[in-house]
Amino acid sequence: MPDLRELLHFYAEAGVDSPLEDVPVDRFAVEPARAPVQAPPARTAPQPERSRPEPQAAAAPALNKTSVPDDTKIALARQLASSATTLEQLREQLASFDGCNLKFTAKNLVFADGNPNAPIMFVGEAPGREEDLEGVPFIGRSGQLLDRMLAAIGLDRTGVYIANTIPWRPPGNRTPTPLETEICRPFFERQIELANPKLLVALGGPAAKALTHAPEGILRLRGNWKTHGTAAGIDIPVMPTLHPAYLLRNAAQKRFAWRDFIAVKMQLRTLTQ
Ligand code: URA
Repeated sequence: MPDLRELLHFYAEAGVDSPLEDVPVDRFAVEPARAPVQAPPARTAPQPERSRPEPQAAAAPALNKTSVPDDTKIALARQLASSATTLEQLREQLASFDGCNLKFTAKNLVFADGNPNAPIMFVGEAPGREEDLEGVPFIGRSGQLLDRMLAAIGLDRTGVYIANTIPWRPPGNRTPTPLETEICRPFFERQIELANPKLLVALGGPAAKALTHAPEGILRLRGNWKTHGTAAGIDIPVMPTLHPAYLLRNAAQKRFAWRDFIAVKMQLRTLTQ
């Protein structure tokens, strides 16, 4: 009999840290329970394999989408995103979009927080566990650090807009795949276009790469102004900086993020005066 604590520990390490359903599914019990009441004994009339009930069908609608080519998903994302003329419409289009597999393991769509009219927009990578549960970006430990960093330069969530490149939590907080990023790209690019900030701050390497296409890692990129070009041809300055989750693990690096935030504050002052 395996030690249950060890098993739970193994699950947590593997990223299995939140249930997908409110009640556990007994995989051994489901199939017999769904068998027709008058079904003849299996030995006399075996069920053909393909006609067996599919106990997982409702829980895994993503499986129905796997036959859709990736290009089609990206094209649909582009079409939906470009048809949105307000952030609220964009949120609705995203909520109706089934082309990203992450939607089917996430609990909530995590669209944005803060003030969409703010002159500055912070973009992270993807929601974590707390964000997924609440549907709000950056509310876990790294979000609390972000709030403190904002306060250090005289800002709070009423004066900034916050979103992610990926609006659904990847299972176990794994890194989103390049394909997932490309499928979500039309949405986050349109979100930036509609929010129309004067400045962008990319939190962490994946967000910096997604916004600027720069090939360097974040430790080289950070602190150097880059640009994000919108579909309408506007170049928005981007400050790549270290992700708060990284800073929680590497406190000595906070001084670099501090420098980046000071540069952001000065640039913001120049652009809004
Ligand atoms: N990390 C991110 O990149 N985004 C969030 O919303 C939370 C943690």
